[in-house]
Amino acid sequence: METSTWSERSQGENAVTGSILETVFPPNSLLSRPLNVKVRGSGIISVINEQDESGFCPFSNKGGTATSRPLPGGRFFYFLMRLKEVYTVRERLEALKAEALEELEQIGQTAQVQELRVKYLGKKGLLTEILRGMGKLSAEERPVIGQLGNEVRSAIESKLEEKKEAAERAEIEAKLASESIDVTLPGRMVHVGNRHPLTLVTEQIEDIFLGMGFTVAEGPEIETDYYNFETLNLPKNHPARDMQDSFYITEEILLRTHTSPVQVRTMEKMKGKVPVKVICPGRVYRRDNDDATHSHVFNQVEGLMVGENVRMSDLKGVLLNFARQMFGEGTEIRLRPSFFPFTEPSAEVDVSCSMCGGKGCRVCKHTGWLEILGSGMVHPRVLEMAGYDPEKYTGFAFGMGIDRIAMLKYGIDDIRHFYTNDVRFLKQFNRV
Ligand code: PHE
Repeated sequence: METSTWSERSQGENAVTGSILETVFPPNSLLSRPLNVKVRGSGIISVINEQDESGFCPFSNKGGTATSRPLPGGRFFYFLMRLKEVYTVRERLEALKAEALEELEQIGQTAQVQELRVKYLGKKGLLTEILRGMGKLSAEERPVIGQLGNEVRSAIESKLEEKKEAAERAEIEAKLASESIDVTLPGRMVHVGNRHPLTLVTEQIEDIFLGMGFTVAEGPEIETDYYNFETLNLPKNHPARDMQDSFYITEEILLRTHTSPVQVRTMEKMKGKVPVKVICPGRVYRRDNDDATHSHVFNQVEGLMVGENVRMSDLKGVLLNFARQMFGEGTEIRLRPSFFPFTEPSAEVDVSCSMCGGKGCRVCKHTGWLEILGSGMVHPRVLEMAGYDPEKYTGFAFGMGIDRIAMLKYGIDDIRHFYTNDVRFLKQFNRV
């Protein structure tokens, strides 16, 4: 129901003196129902517009925009007659068809197609609405109008179908376009990492010793004072503890300063059985100021062999074999007397300089030799504390610096390269 439109229209220059008492508009479209208008002007004019049986509206002026009626007293009543929009059923059907096709032409989405299907052809749609008026038609007219109704329905239907297909196609195409893969894009490089030089060298060392019948053992990096020092014949306040400035966590717990505690841990696990033949690679920590040859974290490989008649010459033979596999066939080793609280006798082991072949160069500081490890015969007290009878068994042990060996092997001049993780440095080892 609408009641205001016309009285607004009647304002202004051609203002009516009359007022519209009542207009009855269809809720959605002027097309769906005859329009009843009651107008009363100055109490004189009364227009009651009714559609008659055939759909003809006697008062409508279908072509014009206004119907004017002289008022007594010479004034004109301007009635902008929307009554022109009161149609016969036939006209309304044709108008509906035109309107539907036109509206369908504008849209492009499947949801809109569905919306318009409901609007025009639905149970409460506009076509049904019009056809409901057929009851008022004459018996001759009814089949004609009925057929027309069907034609309109099928025209709208086929347009709906066409639009639906087009919309679906467009939607699929849009989806495909948005999900498409640009095969002309260059591929992304997959960067395959490589092993760290320290890992490479550790693995080489392991391989060599595995070849000599050793197995690999590991121990904790956070170690007790007991294993790191005491069982290695380094009691509290022993001056040799100064050789290894330590990171203490508590009085009794520290970051291990060497891999030697794994010697003891291994012997304890073996419970007096022989032979013991292990190497123990791993990280160790010392309170050093970092420079080109010192790092507060570095890596060692411990070696331990315990059994009957294990002698210094066995140590020498094992290390010579190792040095030649590691640095080349012509490599020589030499043992220099040294001191470690946990070995007796003790020796520092040098390898002939792989850079100059022993002639003397900058790397070996013109000595022809490079120091790579500390070693010795396991101290009887260490054997004893670990549960081995020193009268029956002997053993040798050594500890080498992996970083130093890697530096010698690859000609690296600064130990800090191993720990600063500069990929330009690290990726040079991808073919090693
Ligand atoms: N643990 C000693 C160090 O770190 C090396 C070593 C190991 C010496 C085994 C003798 C025997 O200096």
